[in-house]
Amino acid sequence: MSRDSLTITDNRTGKTYEIPVTDDTIRAFDLRQIKLNQNDFGMMSYDPAFNNTALCKSKISFIDGDNGILRYRGYPIEELAERSTYLETAYLIIFGELPTRKQLEEWTYHVTHHTFIHESIKKFLDGFHYDAHPMGMLISTIAALSTFYPDARHIFDAESRRKQTYRLIGKMPTLAAFAYRHSLGMPFVYPDNELTYPGNFLNMLFKTTELKYRPNPTLEHALDILFILHADHEQNCSAAAMRNVGSSHVDPYSACAAATAALYGPLHGGANEEVLRMLMEIGSIGNVPSYIKRVKSGEKRLMGFGHRIYKNYDPRARIIKRIADEVFDVMGRNPLLDIALEVERIALQDEYFVSRKLYPNVDFYTGLIYQSMGFPVTMFPVLFAIPRTSGWIAQWEEMLLDPEQKIARPRQIYMGHDQRPYVPMDQRS
Ligand code: SDX
Repeated sequence: MSRDSLTITDNRTGKTYEIPVTDDTIRAFDLRQIKLNQNDFGMMSYDPAFNNTALCKSKISFIDGDNGILRYRGYPIEELAERSTYLETAYLIIFGELPTRKQLEEWTYHVTHHTFIHESIKKFLDGFHYDAHPMGMLISTIAALSTFYPDARHIFDAESRRKQTYRLIGKMPTLAAFAYRHSLGMPFVYPDNELTYPGNFLNMLFKTTELKYRPNPTLEHALDILFILHADHEQNCSAAAMRNVGSSHVDPYSACAAATAALYGPLHGGANEEVLRMLMEIGSIGNVPSYIKRVKSGEKRLMGFGHRIYKNYDPRARIIKRIADEVFDVMGRNPLLDIALEVERIALQDEYFVSRKLYPNVDFYTGLIYQSMGFPVTMFPVLFAIPRTSGWIAQWEEMLLDPEQKIARPRQIYMGHDQRPYVPMDQRS
């Protein structure tokens, strides 16, 4: 009997089985040999929402949820936030190593020269109502990009993947900014290749009559760090969507549209928008205790709190809290911050949250910053999707190049009717 194995006894038959253990996991398929009778299908594992199931082997992000650790390709998020830029971090996440100076210059050149979008995309945006949610516009226009770049379907051609990577990283801010400008009824602002990645995004969002937009350096830097913090997060819902949809060998734009749709959900990236709505609903510090009571009764969820993996303070939330002060110094203190701090103070000492290990996550404070920077709440998930594109691309490519991966097709436990005869209409009750 190997030490690295489980010995499973099936008490229904008395038989025992040796199941190999590698990387502290067993292969679910090894359970199939466990049968009552030789012709049985064999045993499966059942894991709704994949609470305890590894989707893949990955080298991109590492999270230690109990200790609040996040690393991209081995580099602590705190160091990258302190010393890197989003474009450099995106390179690290996608290509696996920090770029040399020359590599970063080339990477920056290519991304910068893929920020324009086809003029026809503007017609898609013109079709949306003025109050269309920008995430709906973003999902649609990302999917539309697949119709402009048919070469993207050559997913096993490394050069094609790299070209689509430049296009996706380069065009996401443009699509997002154009959606924002459409909602304001303002003319689109074209990219300015002399600005940084976050600086050009601010330019396309907020430029008005000035000849040359000059981004506020504090806001530009704050946005760059926020992009770093949102760049990847291992097998979150949207990364899993990117992998699952990408496993059908569809082009990366269509897979990215699916990932963006997953991120849109209020339990995922849409939470930052819901946090602001929650803080506005609470309205004052005095109302916090009664709201917490409603949460504990199960009537409400404390948006921006809790995490499937972090059972400690989300390390990104800690950094975001610090960025908030920098932004508020420039833009003025967001009055909702006091309510957020009171929610956190009460929640971190309340048994309901402590026993469930519910701490502030990445979405709890970001909305306060975005609102202070002038973004409407509907843009908050869009600000999550832009940087997460680098993570989605990295996860997608790792899946494609993993020899163990093929089209995702989960099993089920059938609980429905046995075979039954068709019932003519006049005999149906
Ligand atoms: C992101 O996966 C990632 O990595 C995501 C992300 C990334 O970078 O990609 O980190 C980004 O999506 C962060 C999460 C943003 N979502 C929110 O802030 C929405 C509010 N949070 C929750 O809905 C919830 O905490 C989740 C969805 C984040 C995690 O949910 P789980 O792991 O499925 O936990 P659960 O729903 O099983 O809850 C366990 C218990 C339950 O209580 P009991 O039924 O056991 O009594 O904790 C309670 C839940 O009711 N609970 C909450 C709560 N979150 C969990 N109760 C009140 N408020 C909450 N926020």
